[in-house]
Amino acid sequence: MTEARQDSLPWLDDASRTEIRRAVEALYRVHGLMGSLTDLDALLLRISEESRRVAGAEAASVILYDEKSDELYFEVALGDSGDQARLKSEIRLKMGQGIAGSAAAARATLNISDASRDPRFFSEADSASSFQTRNLLAVPMIERGSLIGVLEVLNKVGADTFSPLDVHVMEMFSGIAAAAVANARLIEQQIKTERLTAIGQAIAGLTHHIKNIITGLNSSTELIDMSLDRGRRDVMDRTWPVLKRSVQRISNFVQDLLAFSKPRVPMRQECDLGALLCEARDAVRDLFNTKHIEMDMDLSGLNGAVWLEADGVYRCLLNLLNNAADALPATGGHVWVRAWSTAPDTLEMEVRDDGPGVPAELRDTIWDPFFSTKGARGTGLGLATTAKVIQEHNGTITLARSGSGACFHILLPGAMRPAVGARDELGESEQ
Ligand SMILES: Nc1ncnc2c1ncn2[C@@H]1O[C@H](COP(=O)(O)OP(=O)(O)OP(=O)(O)O)[C@@H](O)[C@H]1O
Ligand SMILES: [Mg+2]
Repeated sequence: MTEARQDSLPWLDDASRTEIRRAVEALYRVHGLMGSLTDLDALLLRISEESRRVAGAEAASVILYDEKSDELYFEVALGDSGDQARLKSEIRLKMGQGIAGSAAAARATLNISDASRDPRFFSEADSASSFQTRNLLAVPMIERGSLIGVLEVLNKVGADTFSPLDVHVMEMFSGIAAAAVANARLIEQQIKTERLTAIGQAIAGLTHHIKNIITGLNSSTELIDMSLDRGRRDVMDRTWPVLKRSVQRISNFVQDLLAFSKPRVPMRQECDLGALLCEARDAVRDLFNTKHIEMDMDLSGLNGAVWLEADGVYRCLLNLLNNAADALPATGGHVWVRAWSTAPDTLEMEVRDDGPGVPAELRDTIWDPFFSTKGARGTGLGLATTAKVIQEHNGTITLARSGSGACFHILLPGAMRPAVGARDELGESEQ
């Protein structure tokens, strides 16, 4: 292979052959790389590094074109003594200003062998980056007729100027780089659009949910007004629980939204799990009674105190209990809550119901935020929030495979002891 290569291009001397081989290899490498990099910042940095290698230069800059202001700005500047931050924040070039601006305006490569003597040379970039430019090559990056920016390589290593081969290779390279930048920008734009669409859909869903609860609240208050006016105690008795449930729903919703919206470190404290479970049971008591749901609690396998963020775990239990109630038919059903400890310091919990269970094809999807099979009655935040809180406690929650019904199993390693982190967090919170 090597010999075959040496036989090729026989009219060139060894040095030129080595140069050409270096350039071709660099272009091959760069071509592969550019296609696979879609993160714009990483791509620009790579373009700059590869430009320097491809051209055998001391430093390289990627200068991008800002279409709105018709100016050029330094996006990446790489050199041994380069001060990137200052170049990036301070220097903007007008079209036609400096060598880069002139190359951009003319859309042509400029190969300058003595920068100090060229009247177009813009010395402020050197002062800002404390770099001394002797010679430079500025190549416009053009993609389908549009200017993307300018690639600049500075100070050819081991020579006074960049060779015609360097010019040729950099022109090919700038074409690849321009296409890669345009591609990465398109992908970024697409991701942004998709995100905005998803946010829009989520807001529309949430607003719909709030509107439904508020409609319920309004009709309850109207009925209570009427029962007060007309002394109808029977209407009042019927309406009051409905109003309480609507208030509970809106409060649950807001709490879930808060818990879901940002990452948190749980404030673990010693807590009475029995009391916590009773509190959750009391919160759903009315709902369970209305739907004739029986509930069993078993804490017999629990040995010792637990260390958790009580509010967070309470929200998880409430979500699981509400889901169980929603899943059970109007004719009633059964819910079992069990908590037990396993060696060395793990807390396990289970919330199980004898409803229809989760269909096999939804077992993964139910954890997605905003996924709900309940239409306007559900936001789909319950399980996503629950999983997030459990994960923030370094635990896991799974949908266990049980016979009929659904069984959610929570594993909280370290919850049976005051972990070092927990004490620290507690300490911080007490200050
Ligand atoms: N115990 C269960 N039995 C059957 N399906 C369940 C059960 N728990 C959850 N699911 C399914 O998982 C979906 C997502 O649950 P999640 O709690 O995240 O949202 P939601 O209950 O629909 O709405 P939200 O909790 O925000 O009011 C539910 O819509 C339901 O289809
Ligand atoms: Mg739910």
